[in-house]
Amino acid sequence: MTNNVTALNQTEQTLQATVRAVMDAEGLSLSGLSQLTGVGKTRLSQWLKDKYPGDNAAIETDIRRWLESREAASALEGQMPAAPDWVETPSARAVLSALSFAQMAEAVSVVYGGAGVGKTTTIRRYRQQAPNVWVVTATPAVSAPGPILTRIAQALGIRTTGAVHVIEANIIERVRETRGLLVIDEAQHLTHRALDAIRSIHDAAGIGLALVGNEIVYSQLTGGSRSVGFAQLFSRVAKRVRLSRAKDTDVTALLAAWGIEDKEARQLCLGIGRRPGALRGLSQTLRLASMFALESGAGRPGVEHIRDAWQDLGGEA
Ligand SMILES: Nc1ncnc2c1ncn2[C@@H]1O[C@H](COP(=O)(O)OP(=O)(O)OP(=O)(O)O)[C@@H](O)[C@H]1O
Ligand SMILES: [Mg+2]
Repeated sequence: MTNNVTALNQTEQTLQATVRAVMDAEGLSLSGLSQLTGVGKTRLSQWLKDKYPGDNAAIETDIRRWLESREAASALEGQMPAAPDWVETPSARAVLSALSFAQMAEAVSVVYGGAGVGKTTTIRRYRQQAPNVWVVTATPAVSAPGPILTRIAQALGIRTTGAVHVIEANIIERVRETRGLLVIDEAQHLTHRALDAIRSIHDAAGIGLALVGNEIVYSQLTGGSRSVGFAQLFSRVAKRVRLSRAKDTDVTALLAAWGIEDKEARQLCLGIGRRPGALRGLSQTLRLASMFALESGAGRPGVEHIRDAWQDLGGEA
């Protein structure tokens, strides 16, 4: 019995000492601690001095919960490899240069290629670093001139109501002399007439235009010269960038950012990057692998974690 009491007292001492040490180390005030733990200031102050007359156990439960969550958070921070949201891969550089060329030369660039090579990611990046970049993503539902012009007006933050020719005029008015760049992502969804409507904005306002999408984008421009507007657009394409698949150097740039150095793991990742889905499949795999690594107490994902993650996501062995 006596022993038990002593043991309890010791635990209390240790807990209070631990809390004081954290407060000292982090310059945490009593009110700060009260907020973080959810224990009232007065009770907390008395408990710290070992003079709380009430239910000490209740306070300690709250204190322990706070200490544990602190530990868990710092363990996670120390182990979780940062998932790089932007890496300047060779493919990304090619896209960036096509976009900045279109904007600076007020020209038309076409970027087309396979899924997951980083086209959309790079467009987002470019929009962050250059002024007056408007990005519109085409979909099957906005493939015709009216709907896509409405989306462009939305992206510009101007009125989207009224007749199509009025919206078109408003768009031209808004972008003229801005030295801006209009980017249409997923441009393969656009009909010939919609592409032509966009070309006429480029012509009338003198802004840059980038058409980005899958392989079909370019074959549409070259093969289907059925409409006059189409040939007009094609003759205006000043720069084209084809990225049919991710390059191995894209993958190695990504791996460097993830801090993956193990030779076997890198080979596995190169294989994943060569599959359809390219960097998308690889990034998803590495995100899951890093969770697996975390669970098993490893720092960075190793080859086993990556293989498990790849299979877990439905990739073939
Ligand atoms: N440069 C990059 N830096 C960091 N991550 C990247 C990069 N490029 C691609 N990724 C990863 O790959 C994923 C897919 O890239 P993204 O969506 O840009 O491909 P996409 O070329 O637009 O493909 P789709 O043709 O299917 O639209 C991204 O969500 C990201 O996780
Ligand atoms: Mg995309």
